[in-house]
Amino acid sequence: MAATGTNGHQQLRFLIWGGDGWIAGHLKTLLESQGREVHSTTVRMENREEVLRELDRIRPTHVLNAAGCTGRPNVDWCEDNREATIRSNVIGTLNLADCCFLRGIHCTVFATGCIYQYDDAHPWDGPGFLETDPPNFAGSFYSMTKAHVEEILKHYNNCLILRLRMPVSDDLHPRNFVTKISKYEHVVNIPNSNTILADLLPASILLAEHGEVGVYNFTNPGAISHNEVLTLFRDIVRPSYTWRNFSLEEQSKVIKADRSNCKLDTTKLVLKLKEYGYEIPEIHEAYRKCFERMKAAGVQK
Ligand SMILES: NC(=O)c1ccc[n+]([C@@H]2O[C@H](COP(=O)([O-])OP(=O)(O)OC[C@H]3O[C@@H](n4cnc5c(N)ncnc54)[C@H](OP(=O)(O)O)[C@@H]3O)[C@@H](O)[C@H]2O)c1
Repeated sequence: MAATGTNGHQQLRFLIWGGDGWIAGHLKTLLESQGREVHSTTVRMENREEVLRELDRIRPTHVLNAAGCTGRPNVDWCEDNREATIRSNVIGTLNLADCCFLRGIHCTVFATGCIYQYDDAHPWDGPGFLETDPPNFAGSFYSMTKAHVEEILKHYNNCLILRLRMPVSDDLHPRNFVTKISKYEHVVNIPNSNTILADLLPASILLAEHGEVGVYNFTNPGAISHNEVLTLFRDIVRPSYTWRNFSLEEQSKVIKADRSNCKLDTTKLVLKLKEYGYEIPEIHEAYRKCFERMKAAGVQK
């Protein structure tokens, strides 16, 4: 059993992969605020020798893999850069998981739930997709790589796979889902599962430190439409804000790859977190609290 440090935590050593990324930055800040030992790296995941060297140098107990090819300015980039997308999201992600396995290290993968789309069995007002449902969305190359790699990754007994969707931070960082949709000329209006990072990132650490493995839908419970999000944003953060809607058909004319719209079932996650005394608020409540924190911090732009 690991020794207990002066901060009361067992002596765990976290290593964040994709150290310059958006979610990686949030993880580092969170772990530091908890008084944990945390390192980060920008070593390319697909470079086996370098990955093994980095693991042997830092000797983490836990790797948090927040690296991935997400495309700039958005996932449309992946449509035209397929080999580079595969190199990171498939070869790299598997290589890192495998190197961790060989060294006996727990590996948490920040994956995506954008591998589903509403269908007859899962309409927006019906049951959400379960962790065991096969992916049914391959409308974007990015999502396709993520769906395929998960099918293999889930066989690694050292891997915890967390499916985030449309992550939201308490600021208006350009990668925040709210920032993105608030800047679009037009937005669609479809209910979706969303991940409020302030609620879910602490949960990721809880699951990792307890050695949990397997796949989890990693969003707040419930689904919320774009208009509901923007209404709360206007009412709490930016009273002057207005927006215009358009249809999915109109949206398809201004994007290259399709976008996933779906609701994920969070029962497995909620029950697991209950074992550790941790609750995640339903998505409407979570957004309200998030925007109130934003307002209190003076975030306007
Ligand atoms: N933000 C979202 O909407 C969202 C939603 C669901 C899931 N996720 C997943 O969560 C993870 C983190 O997302 P994020 O929003 O923080 O993305 P991000 O800001 O683009 O950060 C990803 C980081 O990974 C690095 N990276 C890419 N390929 C790599 C490789 N082969 N080896 C090592 N590092 C590599 C990137 O570095 P370079 O720029 O130098 O390549 C970048 O610093 C990604 O896997 C993403 O797919 C994100």
